[in-house]
Amino acid sequence: MTHADTVPPHLLLGTCDYPEHVPPDRWAPYARQQRELGLHFVRVAEFAWSRLEPRPGDFNWAWLDEAVDAYHAQGLRVVMCTPTPTPPAWLIRAHPDILAFDEHGRVREFGSRRHYDFASPVYREHSRRITRAMAERYGQHPAVAGWQTDNEFGCHATSRSYGGASAERFPAWLEARYGTLDALNHAWGNVFWSMEYTDWSQIRPPVLTVTEVNPSHVLDYARFASAMIAEFQAEQVALLRELSPRRFITHNFMIFESGFDHYDVARGLDFATWDNYPTGMLEFFAPPGVDEALKTHYARTGHPDLVAFNHDVYRGLMRGQDGLGREGAGTPNGFWVMEQQCGQVNWAPYNPLPADGAVSLWTAQAWAHGADVVSYFRWRAATMAQEVMHSGLLRHDETPDRGHAEVQALDQTLFPAGPIRARVALLHDYESLWLYDQQKHAAGLSYWAQTVTYYMALRSLGVDVDVVHADTDLSGYAVVVAPAITLVSAGRAAHWTHAVQAGTPLICGPRTAFRTPGGATWDDGQFGPLSDLVGARLHQYDSLRPTLTQPVTGLLGTFDATFWAESYRLNGAQALAHYAGGPLDGQPAVIRHGRVTVIGAHSAPLISAVLTDVLTAAGVPVTPLPEGVRVSRRAGRVLVQNWNPEPTDWNGRRLPPVSYQVMEEASV
Ligand code: GAL
Repeated sequence: MTHADTVPPHLLLGTCDYPEHVPPDRWAPYARQQRELGLHFVRVAEFAWSRLEPRPGDFNWAWLDEAVDAYHAQGLRVVMCTPTPTPPAWLIRAHPDILAFDEHGRVREFGSRRHYDFASPVYREHSRRITRAMAERYGQHPAVAGWQTDNEFGCHATSRSYGGASAERFPAWLEARYGTLDALNHAWGNVFWSMEYTDWSQIRPPVLTVTEVNPSHVLDYARFASAMIAEFQAEQVALLRELSPRRFITHNFMIFESGFDHYDVARGLDFATWDNYPTGMLEFFAPPGVDEALKTHYARTGHPDLVAFNHDVYRGLMRGQDGLGREGAGTPNGFWVMEQQCGQVNWAPYNPLPADGAVSLWTAQAWAHGADVVSYFRWRAATMAQEVMHSGLLRHDETPDRGHAEVQALDQTLFPAGPIRARVALLHDYESLWLYDQQKHAAGLSYWAQTVTYYMALRSLGVDVDVVHADTDLSGYAVVVAPAITLVSAGRAAHWTHAVQAGTPLICGPRTAFRTPGGATWDDGQFGPLSDLVGARLHQYDSLRPTLTQPVTGLLGTFDATFWAESYRLNGAQALAHYAGGPLDGQPAVIRHGRVTVIGAHSAPLISAVLTDVLTAAGVPVTPLPEGVRVSRRAGRVLVQNWNPEPTDWNGRRLPPVSYQVMEEASV
């Protein structure tokens, strides 16, 4: 069994099962029903520590052995997890310093999950201990296909602990990074408000200050916390590699998670997986353009582009910063959905039932965006504790729920393995996200909202997109879009300049290259090291409250900027549009210098118009799609999707509500 063996000829399905939640006499019948449903994978044990080691050093494997054997007997492949999101009570009470601190300096108590600090040396020791024990027990088991480390790093705002072990480790991490306090004080701009340090021990996490904390301090704390997560996982990965050869190792990342640098944390994994909950996502992550009416429209499906964006982020994750793929990665362009919503969720303010057809539409879309496996959360609805309101494939009473019927009806062979050949790259970077969101300056906009607005515009033009790290290899793309990369180092500027000089058009959103890697602004202002390439400098920026708009007018039409408008002083670039009225009256709003276009105003229709112009000139086909209709291409096929709750006409066809069709690419 090698990882390559797990790259299937077509989409495969799985589920997340919890044998520890049900009596042992259910294990064999569940495994049989899972096989009969056409599932291939079962993920287990991510929260099972208290049953695996009920008392210190006293392991009880019998129940998990029996459950794994039951799956094996049905030919199901097991994804085994390290159970570290849930250290048991005996461990926490013996070592309370494992617990993390919230941003108000309070201990985050035992009694749910993810109650640990990634930097805790004691917890690191126990994480290695339980990982070793599990890998020794199951690492060579023929049913075990691979491993998931922990569960959803960062979930419930757990990336950063603001006291205890993290607070103790932070100064040493800074000393290793900066060498001297002079260098740190300079990098953080600590002369401002007399924040200069004279001893490393004076430095604390960036919380509980009287007013806002220094953004450079926040940026480095985010980097530090991210490094702790990467280290924590690397320790598990090293043990799993040693004791469980020829098995894959992955982690299940989250929807729009911001707390750590996912590219760093993914290093060392074989492929990424993520957990897809489209209806909950709509409540929490819709950008301002998705208003209440649209949220109602998509309440039972989620928004197609919000889901697609996450697929594309995780498809691109393993390419990392160099774009070359990771050593050992079996599917550098593949990923799994480790947890796929298959009914109601329980954690959003409102949790509507999915529309008929939504579960199969979500599954088909995952395939079209590169998923090799879709695994439903969860097999049977929980009958106890925090998640009793959440659906599974089976209801509480073990009868098949609505998602089950849709999974049963799926033809997995419709969805062959194969590459996605996107011609447009959209650049993403967690450090820019941290800086942007620390000082939004216009409360309605955020890094994700600005980025997703560009992504939605591309998808509504029928364009497939690779979401890649801002420093990745850009050769081969017809167009590169940098919606919100506010941190541009000299190296990044050189990298982009090289791509543009090699012939690639680049489109940048507002705030591009406003900040240095230290979190300051450039001494020569925005665009810092990118100024020559852009042929302009920032002149003014304006923050617009939700009811205040700023007209923009030019060759492509007249638009209203919302939330953000910035203008430029030209130094070689030409203006494609100007602001009309208000304090920016007459100043350039959209500029072009050779192959580089900068859009200074936040307006979805303006963004769409500029993208259409640049894509068309670059020879990328543009097909404006009706609301709710989306097309995605993979392996020579096209998935045509209708996410609308009503039939929709497209390209001479009438698409039924909440439905999809798979067609040969040549036929569309
Ligand atoms: C995920 C988590 C699962 C479960 C699920 C409910 O975030 O990994 O354990 O809680 O949400 O939707």
